[in-house]
Amino acid sequence: MSQAASTRSTWSNRWAFILVAIGSAVGLGNIWKFSYIAGASEGSVGVFIAVYLACVALIGLPLLMAEILIGRRGRGNPVVAMLNTAEESGNSPYWALLGWVGILGALMILAYYSVVSGWMLDYFWQSLAGGVDVKTAEEAERTFGALMASPMRLCFWHTLFVALTTAVIARGVVGGIEAANRIMLPLLFLILVLLTLWGAVVGDMPAALRFMFNFKTEAIKPGVVIDGMGHAFFSLSIGMGAIMAYGSYLDKKTNIGYTCAWIAIAGVFIGLLSGAAIFSLTFGYGLTPAAGPGLILQTLPLAFSHMPGGWVFAIFFFLFVIFAAWTSAISLLEPFVSWLTERYGIHRARAAWSTSVPVWLLGLAVCLSFNEWSGFKFFGRILFDLLDHLATRFMMPLSGLAIAIFVGWRLGKTIVADEIRLKPRLFGLWFNVLRFVVPVGIALVFVYELVLRDWLQ
Ligand code: PHE
Repeated sequence: MSQAASTRSTWSNRWAFILVAIGSAVGLGNIWKFSYIAGASEGSVGVFIAVYLACVALIGLPLLMAEILIGRRGRGNPVVAMLNTAEESGNSPYWALLGWVGILGALMILAYYSVVSGWMLDYFWQSLAGGVDVKTAEEAERTFGALMASPMRLCFWHTLFVALTTAVIARGVVGGIEAANRIMLPLLFLILVLLTLWGAVVGDMPAALRFMFNFKTEAIKPGVVIDGMGHAFFSLSIGMGAIMAYGSYLDKKTNIGYTCAWIAIAGVFIGLLSGAAIFSLTFGYGLTPAAGPGLILQTLPLAFSHMPGGWVFAIFFFLFVIFAAWTSAISLLEPFVSWLTERYGIHRARAAWSTSVPVWLLGLAVCLSFNEWSGFKFFGRILFDLLDHLATRFMMPLSGLAIAIFVGWRLGKTIVADEIRLKPRLFGLWFNVLRFVVPVGIALVFVYELVLRDWLQ
């Protein structure tokens, strides 16, 4: 067993774990990313959503269980958890590299994640100060463009968001992470329900639902499949050590299978509900779902400016997005901080603040990639796009693939069955899906994406 096993914190109870895991899963991915990817796949949104749902069920859920299993069995930060489980099962210690990919990948995501969260803080602030008053699409575009062109504003809000995230992590697992989620998650859910109802009254919900669930096979286009899978990974926080770290604080009694089902269902439900709210306003005000990150920052303020009580709606909407982003960001910082505290015995607060410095610096470079440094391109992308592309299209799926191989083929059935205490039939189903469907699914999408896609287009 790991060195730190006896002194590690544990969540207060099973529901606390479900809450923090949902907090990690539901974030900018479900709101900002989901709406703009869906908006961009005009005509094939139904396909994108269907692929996303299928990937959540067939790839995401089994992987979520596997990742938590490693964390709980290994009783340590992702690097130590991989090392302990590899050792226990007689495998090479090099499997710990997977833990490294996770904890470093999470920091990389956090760098640009906190920049986007900064945009939300800026809009929240503007809404508090009387609302983002835009009457035409050009005005909305100009307002968003002005934020993007201002390194000062971007850096300021990014800095604030990193500080907010670090402050929670510094307070510890139960006193920080769990406490923050206990407050923010119920509020987030309440706000979302109110926004959806309000959206249904003033917006056009039938049009939104038609847009989201209109499945046409001829709309299956190259790219939509990988988008759907990438989104399933991102929105379930898979492969980046976040869920593994959270799993390491889980007690032995909790049933991983049922817990994960809750997490996946809640993640999907909140994602679809916020999509319905966003699109119903978009269509209700005769707007089109713009492509790119502009959707919730250009289209929605336009709807807010025209609707009765729009500024109140805007305040609550941005608060909702900020809570969602914040609870995810803390799960991105935790893996590295737990490694630092466990490896060097550093005090948690000091570990948290020192980890936040490189993240903050990389984030500053991301802020500049929209303006001063927009000329610096890597593989034709600005830094912001490069980081997102690397993380969601490569690191997360590849890390997911490695987790499936490790738990499905290397860990041994005895250990796996000891952690996943499901009825034999259900266990067999999960185990086989993890061993065959997950690796083959990820590999196929990869081959398609890297080799076939350009040919087919
Ligand atoms: N799931 C989060 C979101 O949807 C992002 C995230 C990815 C969090 C990976 C942790 C790990 O916004």
